[in-house]
Amino acid sequence: MPIPESDPNTPLGNSKTLVAYFSAQGHTQAVAERIVELTGADVYRIEASDPYSEDPYDDSDRIQKEAYNDLRPGVANLPDADAIARYDTIFVGSPCWWHQPAMVVCTFLEAYDLKDKVIIPFITYGATTYLNESMQKIYKLTPHSKHIPETLPEDLDPDDITTPGRPDDTGIEMPGNGNGTEAWLRKIGLIK
Ligand SMILES: Cc1cc2nc3c(=O)[nH]c(=O)nc-3n(C[C@H](O)[C@H](O)[C@H](O)COP(=O)(O)O)c2cc1C
Repeated sequence: MPIPESDPNTPLGNSKTLVAYFSAQGHTQAVAERIVELTGADVYRIEASDPYSEDPYDDSDRIQKEAYNDLRPGVANLPDADAIARYDTIFVGSPCWWHQPAMVVCTFLEAYDLKDKVIIPFITYGATTYLNESMQKIYKLTPHSKHIPETLPEDLDPDDITTPGRPDDTGIEMPGNGNGTEAWLRKIGLIK
């Protein structure tokens, strides 16, 4: 099922669950599409105000600077607060970019009161060594939300996102790609 064009003001439908995601190369989008197919969730695609190159590796310096300096690039299509307020559960999808979620996803998360909402991050990545750091970031930005999983493995180097991580990702379940999404949703109890 194709993802409908995102509308800046009214994400989209009547579900109590939203899939909010950013994707540059389509991997995170593929997982988002499968979640929507399997759960009937509404969907919202985060667009950067200053779009990234078609090949985001051409923007690697910019992306590294944003991640390492904890910057908040603008989002072109932030929904109204009311539109976000009516969801109980928000899947939050991002590639791992320079050891962190894409910083536009952080901009999105900080724009809303997400207290008591259930936040379910999903990250796609090339190597797992910074998965925990990316997840921790999302948890830190949503301190009053509930999370699935409820807790993460201890981040062994919480203040250091720039040198290769000690292996602290074990136990974090991720779908990896579209094909892994159904088993992941089952494992975390979102579908039967
Ligand atoms: C600039 C840049 C930096 C990246 N940094 C990491 C990284 O630190 N760790 C990692 O595992 N993968 C990294 N990747 C790989 C992406 O996380 C991976 O390809 C992801 O699935 C892309 O998602 P998308 O297709 O939704 O954009 C990086 C990719 C790019 C373009």
